[in-house]
Amino acid sequence: MKSSSVRILGLGAFVPEKVLTNFDLEKMVDTSDEWIRTRTGIQERHIAEPGTAASDLGAKAALEALAQANLKATQIDLIIVATATPDMTFPSTGCVIQQKIGAVCPAFDLSAACSGFVYGLSVAEAYIRSGLHKHILVIGTEITSSFIDWKDRATCVLFGDGAGAAVLGVSDKGPELLGSYLGSDGEQADILKVPAGGSALPLTSENIKEGLQYLKMSGGDVFKIAVRTMDEAIQKICQCAQITPAQIDCLIPHQANLRILQAVADRVKLPIEKVFINVERYGNMSAASTVVALYEAAKFGKLKNGQHVVLVAFGGGLTWGANIIRW
Ligand code: UT7
Repeated sequence: MKSSSVRILGLGAFVPEKVLTNFDLEKMVDTSDEWIRTRTGIQERHIAEPGTAASDLGAKAALEALAQANLKATQIDLIIVATATPDMTFPSTGCVIQQKIGAVCPAFDLSAACSGFVYGLSVAEAYIRSGLHKHILVIGTEITSSFIDWKDRATCVLFGDGAGAAVLGVSDKGPELLGSYLGSDGEQADILKVPAGGSALPLTSENIKEGLQYLKMSGGDVFKIAVRTMDEAIQKICQCAQITPAQIDCLIPHQANLRILQAVADRVKLPIEKVFINVERYGNMSAASTVVALYEAAKFGKLKNGQHVVLVAFGGGLTWGANIIRW
């Protein structure tokens, strides 16, 4: 499974200061704190001020990860930015972050919606194992508030803004990335998407009037497929590392909905205490979700040397995947 040890050398995270609570949302749409908490587990989320870009959050998270890794930005060989809310169509948010942090290396964006960071770790792993790059910065950053229809109670209560970053590299110490597993199914593209703003449906005053620039989701369908595909990804990544799901010490899932996390834990027969959960404070931060959860699990001392830590995610595309780390 491995030719050289790919390690996590540093982690960083950043969320905007402004907090939007369920009670604030009660004043904006026909909803209640009770509905949001019982259906999703979310209590509050962070929302960026207008004028803030995904690159602003991503750069801050990246600088913290670099400091933790004890590396200068100029020592990074590649920047991969997972985002569904890039600063603009092009240039890539990766290039913008490269300039903001003072790196001198190739940079690109990766589009896998909420699974983006898990995909990004897999790409970085392959580059490092091939010997092509030594130090790679993988960033998940989102201003989800930019594609939310704040009049649609079915979606606006679910999402939040934030960013996380990891520096990966070859080293003989630190948490070791053992392997990754990825899946996708374009047949299900329509159940979770932002219809307008790309080449298929460029923005016009007509489709803006129809609200097609906003996220559209068939929540119930997404829920069911999320549970099934995250279960599958966990089984596959455990096979890859030759362990059983019962041997996972900490599961770090994409934080979309507490009920999804409970259903996944039940399916893989993992006690919920082994699942790291922070959805109540951030909501769904899309590609930033798993990396911010990983950062917090490490910071709060939940991850001990030698433990098996599994990241698992699911998102639009549809996409899903998992990474396994020996801490
Ligand atoms: O990153 C991946 C992206 N997304 C996800 O993973 C989301 C997956 N899906 C979900 O998390 C859940 O399906 C939701 C939280 C979105 C919805 O929960 P649900 O239990 O599936 O509710 P529902 O859509 O079946 O709606 C139940 C009711 C409906 O009213 P009626 O038709 O029963 O009268 C909705 O109109 O709840 C209503 N509703 C709300 N009521 C108060 C929907 N949103 C709200 C709201 N406040 N915010």
